[in-house]
Amino acid sequence: MTRGIGKDTLWLTVLLWMFVESLSDNVWGYPGQGYYIEVEIGSPPQKLNVLLDTGSANLAVAAAPLSNVEKFFQSNISKTYEATGQSVSVTYTQGTWHGMLGSDLVQVPSVHASQVRCDIALIQESEDFFTNGSKWQGIMGLGYGVLAQPRGTTTSWLTAISPSAFALQLGCSSEENSMEVHGVLEILHPPFPKPPFCATIIREWFYEVIVTGVWVDDVTVNIPCEEFNNDKSIVDSGTTNLRFPRKVFQEVVKMINNSVRSHGINISDAFWNQESVACLDTKPETIFPSLALGLARDDGQYFKVVLDPQSYLHRDLENHSQFNCHQLALEPSDTGTVLGLVFLEGLKVIFDRTSRSVCFSSSSCGGPPVLLEGPFACDNDPMNCVHRDDVASALTAISVTMGAFLSVAAIIVAYLACSRFLHPYLCPVKSQWPRRSRSRRELLPRSSDLDLTTAT
Ligand SMILES: *[C@@H]1O[C@H](CO)[C@@H](O)[C@H](O)[C@H]1NC(C)=O
Ligand SMILES: *[C@@H]1O[C@H](CO)[C@@H](O)[C@H](O)[C@H]1NC(C)=O
Ligand SMILES: *[C@@H]1O[C@H](CO)[C@@H](O)[C@H](O)[C@H]1NC(C)=O
Ligand SMILES: *[C@@H]1O[C@H](CO)[C@@H](O)[C@H](O)[C@H]1NC(C)=O
Ligand SMILES: *[C@@H]1O[C@H](CO)[C@@H](O)[C@H](O)[C@H]1NC(C)=O
Repeated sequence: MTRGIGKDTLWLTVLLWMFVESLSDNVWGYPGQGYYIEVEIGSPPQKLNVLLDTGSANLAVAAAPLSNVEKFFQSNISKTYEATGQSVSVTYTQGTWHGMLGSDLVQVPSVHASQVRCDIALIQESEDFFTNGSKWQGIMGLGYGVLAQPRGTTTSWLTAISPSAFALQLGCSSEENSMEVHGVLEILHPPFPKPPFCATIIREWFYEVIVTGVWVDDVTVNIPCEEFNNDKSIVDSGTTNLRFPRKVFQEVVKMINNSVRSHGINISDAFWNQESVACLDTKPETIFPSLALGLARDDGQYFKVVLDPQSYLHRDLENHSQFNCHQLALEPSDTGTVLGLVFLEGLKVIFDRTSRSVCFSSSSCGGPPVLLEGPFACDNDPMNCVHRDDVASALTAISVTMGAFLSVAAIIVAYLACSRFLHPYLCPVKSQWPRRSRSRRELLPRSSDLDLTTAT
């Protein structure tokens, strides 16, 4: 009898532990430097921190004493490391790394997934890739395998553990004035509750979705919806800001500018170009409008994600005495809409690979307030919003979605470029565009940002 109770208690403890375990913070970061998780690589295991990036698919770690890394992976002391002799290089708009491809046993102790063997790029040389103070020494790509380099042969960690879904909950509240941000990465196994706000993934490479509309304080950004997805729209945890195609960005900024001006407030153009912060004597929520994006579901309807100004303005924490200084965390892009951390923080986001959708629900961990609304009927077929050049391949992909459960492995990838971006927030930009003039740069406080667009 006593033993019976003991067993129950044990089970309860185990269940409770699993419950607590699954909700504990396991990812950390600093503003503008992305979120990282601890991984164990090799035998005996070597602990390293890797940036979580849904916009790429390689696991790559520092394997030499490079600048801005505190530690690195030593393959020569791992009994299970297997070299391939293949070299791999990735060049970004700012920054590059070169390394050797190998494989080893990898485990992420804080998630419920078994140890697996997967490919790892051992970074031997890098330039402007690692940042001072970021605390990560590598990168974990959580995108689809087709994005992995070298193409076609590389098995990412996610492919190796082959989960039906994973969830990211980012932007969890830290102590007041703390620079550190945190969140949770969970590997999900069915059955898991599926939130009602699911955007359909139209192609499996990046997590590519369809933006059906953009609203500034409920007023429609009045341009053809194809422009919102020119040339694609992706969900990317490796990007800090919310990036819009240039035309959309200009229109959105114009509308926010007008809304702010209607309160009798003038903000310099340098603010709208991310070149300076705006210091206000009131809370930004009282002056700045909300910003909403519509995302297409798989049934021809859409839902809205409504961001508070707190999400798209980032407090300038460089100067702790001035909490009312803000930086615009929206940016123009030449590679389509990028739903970066600005969009993801404050939500629980399930990347559901089995049902090809990215699902959103309110986060339970605090963070910026984000509203989810809908579903609403579309005036037009959301497929009309797909960038024209891509309609054929997207149609193929969506017919795969509709064909449910007839899972098809090969998905058309029309592009050779695999890109990701990591942009700063809170700290104004130092050198987002390489050619920005020195004098303009000097207007800005220190920042450590990455602009990583892979040139393959
Ligand atoms: C492993 O390689 C590093 C340099 O890459 C070297 O410093 C270290 O001594 C080597 N360790 C062993 C056990 O060979
Ligand atoms: C890195 O940042 C720390 C403070 O955060 C500073 O003391 C150090 O000099 C920096 N190192 C480099 C190489 O910039
Ligand atoms: C903001 O509005 C003012 C007044 O209409 C205009 O002069 C300024 O160029 C606008 N700035 C931007 C970035 O749109
Ligand atoms: C804002 O700028 C406009 C012209 O761009 C000017 O007429 C107005 O007086 C300014 N308002 C303030 C509060 O500075
Ligand atoms: C912080 O803000 C105060 C007040 O505006 C200013 O005097 C000070 O120079 C600022 N410090 C930095 C490091 O920018």
